[in-house]
Amino acid sequence: MPGVVTLRAEALSKAFGARSALRDVSFELTSGERVAVIGPNGAGKTTLLSLLAGLQRATGGSVSLPPEQIGWVPQQAAVYKRLSVRENLRLFARLERVDDPDAAVDRALELTGLADRAKDELSTLSGGNQQRVNIAIGLLADPPVLLLDEPSSSLDPRQRAILWEFIDGLADAGTAVMFATHEIDEAQRHADRILVLADGELIFTGTADELHAAGGGDPDLVVAFVSLLEAQGH
Ligand SMILES: Nc1ncnc2c1ncn2[C@@H]1O[C@H](COP(=O)(O)OP(=O)(O)O)[C@@H](O)[C@H]1O
Ligand SMILES: [Mg+2]
Repeated sequence: MPGVVTLRAEALSKAFGARSALRDVSFELTSGERVAVIGPNGAGKTTLLSLLAGLQRATGGSVSLPPEQIGWVPQQAAVYKRLSVRENLRLFARLERVDDPDAAVDRALELTGLADRAKDELSTLSGGNQQRVNIAIGLLADPPVLLLDEPSSSLDPRQRAILWEFIDGLADAGTAVMFATHEIDEAQRHADRILVLADGELIFTGTADELHAAGGGDPDLVVAFVSLLEAQGH
């Protein structure tokens, strides 16, 4: 299924006052593709994702899809701990003006395996299940593209395994998935393509194998990644 371009970002830039957080970043996402965005703290990963999701306005450049068609899973879920899972989803479905909110909520619950927890108050859920709610919110509008900002950072190893299985399944079903991560091994295992951001610039796009090569061929991808950063002056 990969091959159909779902989203094209062209020369995206973002400045905060005099400070440039992102400079001329261009890439494409194709359906069913899993793309990892890696880079040091402050590289612009969250800024890039939030521009695509329409949470911030770009200073320059364009995105071919409107934000309504791009699902967004922030690092910190904006959920209400005192509401049930279903109530949270219903609230976001209305905020996002999804057509037929009840059907959208049922579909998102089903997709994320949360149907049997629908009535439970959010505060009673494990971290892994709260993250599922976060993802369910991102999927309410049935978007062709899903963005996740460091989705595994608060999860234990077992919860991570479940998360990646779910994300791989979404991509298999045709969703283009883009995630930011600090875990190079997750990028290696769960991304078809890797984007490396450093100081707001896209310094690499390619597969994990190509990243090994670009970083001097070290078999350890973390070492290759750091070599690449250093070779580019970061
Ligand atoms: N709201 C903001 N105001 C000013 N500077 C910001 C703001 N958000 C992010 N930045 C700056 O933009 C750069 C990129 O940040 P960010 O996208 O959060 O990086 P990452 O997610 O890769 O750690 C950093 O230098 C950060 O300090
Ligand atoms: Mg970030």
